[in-house]
Amino acid sequence: MKTRITELFGIKYPIICGGMLWVTDANLCAAISEAGGLGCITADQYNSGEELRAAIKEVKALTDKPFGVNITLMPSFRITEEVFDDFFKVCAEEKVANIEISGQFATKYIPMLHEAGVKITHKVGAVRHAAKIERLGYDAVIVAGVEEGGHPLNDNVATTVLLPKVAETVNIPILSTGGMVDGKSMAAALCLGADGIMMATRFIASNECWVHENIKNWILELNENDTELFCHSLLQARGVKNSIVAKVKELESSGEDNRMEVAKTVSGQHLIAALKSGDRESAAFLFGQSIGRIHEIKSCKSIIEDTMTECEATIARISNLF
Ligand SMILES: Cc1cc2nc3c(=O)[nH]c(=O)nc-3n(C[C@H](O)[C@H](O)[C@H](O)COP(=O)(O)O)c2cc1C
Repeated sequence: MKTRITELFGIKYPIICGGMLWVTDANLCAAISEAGGLGCITADQYNSGEELRAAIKEVKALTDKPFGVNITLMPSFRITEEVFDDFFKVCAEEKVANIEISGQFATKYIPMLHEAGVKITHKVGAVRHAAKIERLGYDAVIVAGVEEGGHPLNDNVATTVLLPKVAETVNIPILSTGGMVDGKSMAAALCLGADGIMMATRFIASNECWVHENIKNWILELNENDTELFCHSLLQARGVKNSIVAKVKELESSGEDNRMEVAKTVSGQHLIAALKSGDRESAAFLFGQSIGRIHEIKSCKSIIEDTMTECEATIARISNLF
């Protein structure tokens, strides 16, 4: 398949992995790129540009295929503006294929990245933001419906409405994310105007993802109605309903300013420990509604190839209707 996304990144299939703080690593990233998609590592889990460079080199030792880096540009207790500057500088020096931004616009970095031949994309949850990033000179837009894992924009618009509206508004290539798990969702996204898809939660339930089997099996057990939007006092997130999400909701409904307590409750340290131990109740797991359609743990190669095969069959079935 050839689309504006396969052309942009020089990849075989228009399937890319979204940033997942504390979940992505060199191994998962390389497995996705080796399978013909675009793997990704997440800059914000490193403390300095040099730590990120070491992770990029780790991926390069595993694959010579293109891969990307997610940079979540948001005010952070841990990452200073200087460290964010270093993240971008290192990505330009290491000539990664793509930088996937979420949060603030990365306007000041775009000339440096383009000079280095690095593509820059931005994840948006609103048509107005898609139009803005096109004006700023980004190479592609990632349209994130409210179904997505992580931090959906609090406009709360679903992929089925947001994606075609963005496609009618901008001329740059489009990736669809939020609810993307297989060939049926990919075919739908292509019909709605996307040039490719981004999946995240789907890749956690893969052989190559390092997280504990108890968490991967949980993804198979969970349903589409097992996540909820929470954490509105800091930044809206979608998480699996568990005791930690319930605690955050309780803190937020007390009428007091509990933001520090909320931040502690959803801290990355709890998540890392839970992903390692398999404890389903000791952290907030920001999985997408896509969990309702993930039924098997398999290799990244199978995830990508099965998606392509099913996408083609779905489009063929639709074509036969006419
Ligand atoms: C565990 C997890 C962590 C995530 N962390 C980030 C992140 O650090 N930065 C970011 O831009 N998006 C993050 N996301 C959002 C994904 O990149 C992607 O937009 C979204 O999950 C797509 O929906 P899906 O998971 O249903 O495929 C995260 C998603 C998950 C599941």
